[in-house]
Amino acid sequence: MFINFWYPIAASDEVTNKEPHRAEVLGLKLVTYRDSEGNAHVLADTCTHRGASLGKGWVKEDCVVCPYHGWEFDKDGQCTKIPSLSADENVPARAKVDSYPVQEKYDIVFAFLGDLPEEERPPLVEVPEWGQEGWRANRLLVFEVPTFYERSIENGLDPSHNAFVHPAQGSPVMQEHLARQPLEMEDIPWGSKFMMTFDNKETGTEALGDPTTIEPTEVNAGSGFVGPNQMITWINFSEKNKFSQYFFEAPVNENLTRVFFVNMRSWLLEPEMDERLTKVNAAVAKEDIDVLRELDPVRTPPTASEEVLIRSDGAVSRYRQGLQEWTEKGWRIDIKSLREQRGDRAFAIPCPSRRTSKNWVQKTIPLVSKD
Ligand code: FES
Ligand SMILES: [Fe+2]
Repeated sequence: MFINFWYPIAASDEVTNKEPHRAEVLGLKLVTYRDSEGNAHVLADTCTHRGASLGKGWVKEDCVVCPYHGWEFDKDGQCTKIPSLSADENVPARAKVDSYPVQEKYDIVFAFLGDLPEEERPPLVEVPEWGQEGWRANRLLVFEVPTFYERSIENGLDPSHNAFVHPAQGSPVMQEHLARQPLEMEDIPWGSKFMMTFDNKETGTEALGDPTTIEPTEVNAGSGFVGPNQMITWINFSEKNKFSQYFFEAPVNENLTRVFFVNMRSWLLEPEMDERLTKVNAAVAKEDIDVLRELDPVRTPPTASEEVLIRSDGAVSRYRQGLQEWTEKGWRIDIKSLREQRGDRAFAIPCPSRRTSKNWVQKTIPLVSKD
């Protein structure tokens, strides 16, 4: 797991100005709420007074109020009121929690979990089809996968599993001659992608709707990743019949991932098709989850020699190379150290204002050293 990337924290409709919403991402608790203008905010969940969960409190006048002794924290994470202070006492400067940059898009509240200044931040993936004429989004699908998020992303980058895991769901099947070819990766900012051409006859498009709406042609499909936790799949059955599928993944902890799935389509545009496609997507997800939950080891092994990767795993290898590059930047969370120390102290993911102000109560989450 890495700091310094954008993570989906909650579906938009989970975040209100009535009560705070709790989330766990990168192994730590976060709290999210809306202010009176409707803007969403994401803060570290642990109250710096004596450790209560802000997410168990309530929202009052644009602040989140701790349920234990009523301290109030504003959108910047600064404590603005301590009810039990006497008139001659000030709120201590150290009474603050980390507050993270937020973007709300595609019905998802995203937070940048890290301390990089704005100009250095890796991007949140754009969904260019969103709101475009001729495209329709399915209702946001959020599902929990009982596996480490890197295994989940790798699964999406793997065209050779479709034939075995999803034989009936309309996924392009990788024919033997394709499986033998190297995946041609094309690097993109903070990631890499591939596209390949499949034979349409071997796709199960019946599962998706009326097959007669598809003109016989080759299927162009592929996948890519941006950062450690964003994955895109393109399935172009024809010029007119396209799916662009965006997976924003939140590692909850070492064993659980929350996947926010935005499915854009350029056909089957009738609103009543939403339900059918959601069913197909849920069935595909279940097929993947049934395999992923049993992977051993749960996480990707520390060295490539502990598995046998072949040509069709080319995108997986390229992804692991990316993970290595971000480790070398010093952004990888030291999961073992976190596991050992938690219970004795509360940790926080550093937010950008840690670079400009001192006096923070919570220790920053342990990171794997660069070398
Ligand atoms: S622990 Fe939050 S106000 Fe005391
Ligand atoms: Fe799959």
